[in-house]
Amino acid sequence: MSDTGSKMDDAARAILAQNDRGGYTVPTHGLYPFQWNWDSAFVAMGFATYDVGRAYRELERLIEGQWDDGMIPHIIFHAPSDTYFPGPEVWGTQHGVPTSGITQPPVFGMALRSIHDAALAARFPDAGARGQALFQAALRHHRWWLRARDPEGIGLVAILHPWESGSDNSPAWDIAFARVETSTTTAIRRRDLGHVDPAMRPRDIDYQRFIHLVDLYRECGWDPARQWARAPFKIAEVQMTAILARSTADLIALADALGTPEDKGELQDMLQVLLAGLASRWRPDLKRFVSLDLISGEDIEAPTQAGFMPLLAVALDDDQRKAVAEEITRWCSDVVVGLPTTPSFSPAFEAKRYWRGPVWAVINWLLADGLRLNKLDDLAREIEQATVQAIERRGFFENFDPVTGEGGGGDTFSWTAAAYLVLSRRS
Ligand code: DGY
Repeated sequence: MSDTGSKMDDAARAILAQNDRGGYTVPTHGLYPFQWNWDSAFVAMGFATYDVGRAYRELERLIEGQWDDGMIPHIIFHAPSDTYFPGPEVWGTQHGVPTSGITQPPVFGMALRSIHDAALAARFPDAGARGQALFQAALRHHRWWLRARDPEGIGLVAILHPWESGSDNSPAWDIAFARVETSTTTAIRRRDLGHVDPAMRPRDIDYQRFIHLVDLYRECGWDPARQWARAPFKIAEVQMTAILARSTADLIALADALGTPEDKGELQDMLQVLLAGLASRWRPDLKRFVSLDLISGEDIEAPTQAGFMPLLAVALDDDQRKAVAEEITRWCSDVVVGLPTTPSFSPAFEAKRYWRGPVWAVINWLLADGLRLNKLDDLAREIEQATVQAIERRGFFENFDPVTGEGGGGDTFSWTAAAYLVLSRRS
């Protein structure tokens, strides 16, 4: 490892240590002062590069928030903080450890496989028992996804809130989200704008709709069937489904060691359903996959990174591989750092505004994994190297402006540190 690499490695570990709140890691201080679901799964994979025990601990603390029905919430409020809105009082959920009432992309299964592999390589003593408990939690979570979020069995799981996607203000939601009312019973007291330049955050009108949905689902008592029936925002989403499918495949790979033959069979059935659902969303003219708006019945054609995420699970045919490679190359052709989460040719592109253009290290990580699975190794390597270089030049930012390469959003970000630890070992 070069001098720069080794200094950055130390800096990445220092960020994870600094954001540790006792076995779980906050995404960054101030802006995100609790445990976030998919952040923690990425962070656990970062820890797995040097501290397997701590990696297990991250997931164990996350499932302290798992609900009886299997849902793993998007935020676990282990300890109070007044630097974030909306806090536990707004969510009004009924779990021992206070949590939010929605979920986030299930990277958990991917993380468990990565930790298990690291544990085997390090001859970690406790891997069996700890891994088995986490495997069962993951399986219950995947069952929840299919039961609660694909009740009609179309092979695609739905989000009921943009926050569930992790890509909160993505242009992918613009048409569907505009139908959501802006009235709220909860007073909106944004804290994020005190931490980050407002030009890098969602707009106030987005927050009115975000909170309208929280109010509505709280009125449903967070019951999945009542929420499904009343949701004004319901997207069968390809990025979420792809991550669920990838995690399912990873759990299948772990089942002999951590589960039972019945668990393995159940997961194999789930995977077939999800792969068929994803395959139906390929659009050759767009050279990518598209999500489905379940309220309007229309395809979501806005170009965003989500269109390439099915590579994580789907084996593309030759025409698809060629088309995807061309399209990703086009998106990266006029930017300093790729992949922009919205391409610069889109009218919705905003280079600094959160999920409307900026490059995110963890998205590049997933994308590179998908490209490698589809034997597009050169492109995967380019994306990994671009990510590592962006972090080395600018720091461990939440995201990066694709046009200038500048860091944006929060600084000393845990999942960016984790991405560095993993991706820098590949280049
Ligand atoms: C936020 O508050 O910005 C989060 O993305 C919601 O999880």
